Amino acid sequence: MRIPIVNLKPSLAETRVEWERNLAGLMERGFFILGPELARFEEELARTLCAGFAIGVSSGSTAIEVCLRDAGITEGKQEVITSAMTAPFTGVSIAAAGATPRFADIDPETLQVDANDLGNRIGKKTAALLPVHLYGQPCDIGRIARIAKASRLKLIQDACQSHGAMPFTKYGDYVALSFYPTKNLGCLGDGGAILTDKPAVAKRLRQIRDGGRGSGGLPRNQIAFVKGINARLDELQCCYLNAFLPQLHRWNAQRRQLARVYDEMLGGAKGIQVLRRSPESVCHLYVIRAERRDKLRDYLTKLGIGTGIHYPVPLHLHPAFAAAKQKKGDLPHAEKAAREILSLPLWPQLPEQQVREVAEAVLRFYDS
Ligand SMILES: Cc1ncc(COP(=O)(O)O)c(C=O)c1O
Repeated sequence: MRIPIVNLKPSLAETRVEWERNLAGLMERGFFILGPELARFEEELARTLCAGFAIGVSSGSTAIEVCLRDAGITEGKQEVITSAMTAPFTGVSIAAAGATPRFADIDPETLQVDANDLGNRIGKKTAALLPVHLYGQPCDIGRIARIAKASRLKLIQDACQSHGAMPFTKYGDYVALSFYPTKNLGCLGDGGAILTDKPAVAKRLRQIRDGGRGSGGLPRNQIAFVKGINARLDELQCCYLNAFLPQLHRWNAQRRQLARVYDEMLGGAKGIQVLRRSPESVCHLYVIRAERRDKLRDYLTKLGIGTGIHYPVPLHLHPAFAAAKQKKGDLPHAEKAAREILSLPLWPQLPEQQVREVAEAVLRFYDS
């Protein structure tokens, strides 16, 4: 692709000195799990994202699973309501914890979960709400947190796409992040973290991610006290994360600037709709709604412009989530959006000229 949807190489090049130094230290120590690189990362991540504590885990998916386990949501009779428009892994993680995912519809202008619809779906079996901050943008979290409190439900935030958009922990005890390589803060493999403000919660989450084992040496560290999993974040990944983290706010600002260029060129254009975005958005993805979406996508591909669809099928229509008993037609906004959305190229160092080229190509498609 002449202009790919994402390119990680510039971020690696910009931080090379730091990650090489971190890797050299790691090889010298020869200590690869739960070591000083992780401890440094957890401290810096909490500080950078204005949270009390950060707990490194092995992926965004295990971040969600560990939170649900700590919240005691591990049985099929317990339902967790999340957005129908999210990565499949949000639903997969609920099921992995043992609970049953159910899905709410979205706001057609932002594609964020609709707080009203989420609230209306609360039933006797509902144990938790799991709102997603999609595409880098906070959802209506103030309202959703109030609904959770009024209904005495646990609140787990999926912020896997929204690193640094706002201090999410002020709304609830559990915030999940993913460091999948293409995220605003990514590693070179799988990785994730949980943010919380509560010391007691942080302590329990650390225990769950490490097999539920005790601390303080033998025999306690070889006894599983609670039902945990192995969800540790490797020292190796922390070598990269510690190099990337100081750049996060700058990279987010660059994404915002490029998204504004797309907005200016595409806002109000024939055939497409630009999503409504709040100023906090860290612009993880630049998503438009497009008429004749698949034809536009083919046209851009032929020009060497990479695109994506996040996400082509709403989660209530995935075979793996049939237990939700939600069928086609139940969540009309999510179903319609899934047929129309298209993600355009965006990464922090994408040259502005290339953003203009992509936008011009989109405009040309609808003019011809
Ligand atoms: C919204 C959302 N939730 C959960 C996940 C799962 O994260 P991971 O791929 O790190 O397991 C992702 C990333 O794929 C995501 O984008």
